Amino acid sequence: MKRIFSGAQPTGNVHLGNYLGALRNWVSLQHEYESFFCIVNLHAITTRQDPALLAQKTKELAQIYLAVGIDPELSTIFIQSDVAEHAELTWILNCVARMSELERMTQFKDKAKKQRENVGVGMFDYPVLMAADILLYQTDLVPVGEDQKQHLELTRDLAIRFNRDYGDTFRIPEPYIPKVGARIMSLSDPAKKMSKSDDDPNGCVMLLDDADSIQRKFKRAVTDSGTTIRFDESRPAIANLLTIFQLLTGKSPEQIEDHFAAKGYAQLKQELADVTVEFLKPFQERVRATTDEELSRLLEKGRDKARQIARVTLETAMARMGISGARELAGLAARI
Ligand code: AMP
Ligand code: TRP
Repeated sequence: MKRIFSGAQPTGNVHLGNYLGALRNWVSLQHEYESFFCIVNLHAITTRQDPALLAQKTKELAQIYLAVGIDPELSTIFIQSDVAEHAELTWILNCVARMSELERMTQFKDKAKKQRENVGVGMFDYPVLMAADILLYQTDLVPVGEDQKQHLELTRDLAIRFNRDYGDTFRIPEPYIPKVGARIMSLSDPAKKMSKSDDDPNGCVMLLDDADSIQRKFKRAVTDSGTTIRFDESRPAIANLLTIFQLLTGKSPEQIEDHFAAKGYAQLKQELADVTVEFLKPFQERVRATTDEELSRLLEKGRDKARQIARVTLETAMARMGISGARELAGLAARI
């Protein structure tokens, strides 16, 4: 069975962009692939986090994975820092990666620009840790939003280079970026992607927002000049609202355009807010329903399963590089 691996950071709140661009696809793909869904807390600490809040958000993200429909009977859910192999393989890949290729990462450049001084080494190295996540599990497919495409290309390059220099070790993963929803835009600025770090909190609808906030955010959503409600790239604000409507209702673009043919922007925003509130209601109830015991049992099970696989890949990579260490040196010749 082919494998998928993906992850999200336990920072801030999960928003509609995360759901429509990534999590939603994890849920459908878990039936066809052996699936690993990671809570990437080591990525989270590449920017300063409040420790108590990070721990709370880590637990909350596990609840969110379950509530969106990831089935722990089918998929492995685990916390990145529980599997030390992620950090260990990162070091090895650091010795394969080049400064110049990391300097080209647009996400790093954007984040570094915001920070100016004291840009952390971890932030620079973020994509190598992500490559380690993916390669440890011999992953075939990585379902992510459009913003992660460049990181996936780097992952492939590192795997190809390692395999070339040390012998076939890692499977080369493919990105899975959905045709619709891979880049949900901010409601307050359709030129920017919806993001938890948006300066304007009204641009971003959180999965755990209450009904009033959702209504308010859609009501304030920026629209384009004009009045027609059509899927039209040259009207990015309306196209974004329609894309969200399409993904939440499962209706086709034609059905949606017919439905709104004689209606105005205010009506579109109102219906979209109602659809979102209805969609999120049962989800939010499921988040609240998971117990701590259930959660810790599941995360321990996930950790054990993930470790088993990660260990084999890490040891193979170490042996190929000639860094197996004392315990294994004796049996090494037989294994390579
Ligand atoms: P993060 O919360 O940054 O760890 O992101 C988790 C997942 O959500 C990744 O696969 C991202 O590519 C995806 N994602 C983040 N923002 C958006 C967005 N505005 N539209 C679509 N996908 C997104
Ligand atoms: N960098 C990803 C993001 O911000 C999160 C992530 C970390 C990830 N490791 C991963 C996604 C491995 C897919 C596979 O969205």
